[in-house]
Amino acid sequence: MLKTKEVVLKARELGKCIPAFNCPHVPMVKPICEAIRDENSVAMIQVARVEWEKMSSQSLERIAEEYGKYKSEGHTLLHLDHIPAVDEDFKKVDYMDLIGRALKAGFQSVMIDGSRLPLDENIAVTSEAAAAAHEGGVPIEAELGAVMGHEAGEMPPYDEIFAKKMGFTKLDEAARFAKEAGCDWLSVACGNIHGRVAEAVRNQKKPEARLDVEHIADLYKAAGIPLVLHGGSGVKHECVLEAIKAGISKINVGTEIRQTYEFALEEKPGDIEYAQKKVYERTRDYIRNYLYNTDLADQIK
Ligand code: 13P
Repeated sequence: MLKTKEVVLKARELGKCIPAFNCPHVPMVKPICEAIRDENSVAMIQVARVEWEKMSSQSLERIAEEYGKYKSEGHTLLHLDHIPAVDEDFKKVDYMDLIGRALKAGFQSVMIDGSRLPLDENIAVTSEAAAAAHEGGVPIEAELGAVMGHEAGEMPPYDEIFAKKMGFTKLDEAARFAKEAGCDWLSVACGNIHGRVAEAVRNQKKPEARLDVEHIADLYKAAGIPLVLHGGSGVKHECVLEAIKAGISKINVGTEIRQTYEFALEEKPGDIEYAQKKVYERTRDYIRNYLYNTDLADQIK
């Protein structure tokens, strides 16, 4: 059976990156699992708390149940995305309860997101969550820096975020965090932004993000653990390929697959099979033509 921690380390060794596809709607699980299998690749299916609170994935248990029907040994893995200590509406979350439930439901890796907290508190909640994840035998991802986009309020224009390096993960903090917080992978801010999730703006096209690749290389050196790129939809292609060389080993892809599903349903209301077919095609295309990860399963066993 594939072990998630080893899969990500092996990808790093091969100069590859493991995509993790968000499933904010339950029927998306099937076509994404099938696309990964049919490309003979390796990738994660993931769900974040915001996707059952504000979209239609229902619960982490519901996604795990759906995943159980369509998973494919040697190809797919199940990851729990963003469990915030403080959420996008600035409410406190019982993150230990959710992580405990995920371990019971069979998630093979989890994320704790303490990035809205001051550094010391982020380290404290990450250590607490990491102890539980490791006790349950799974790796844990954490976040440091501000990957904007999930919050409901106005966001600064993208060019300003990039030019002023707003929210970028700091090198000295990354070094300390990796040493003290006990996480296995670190999500960093380096020009990436999340697709918007607030209802009023979630259909918007994402601005094309760029990445500060030199900063990623420095962060990787400072942290010494695999780095994760959130906000993977619509990032300039050359930047992603360079970022993988610099230390990104997992990339989260939400908006572009979600919008593929939702726009297909707008085109043909009620036709879930049509929307699933579109998601299947888009996921295959992403694996094959964007990450060049076809046949990755032959190299990661
Ligand atoms: P996008 O929706 O921008 O692809 O980001 C997804 C993500 O980072 C989920 O954690």
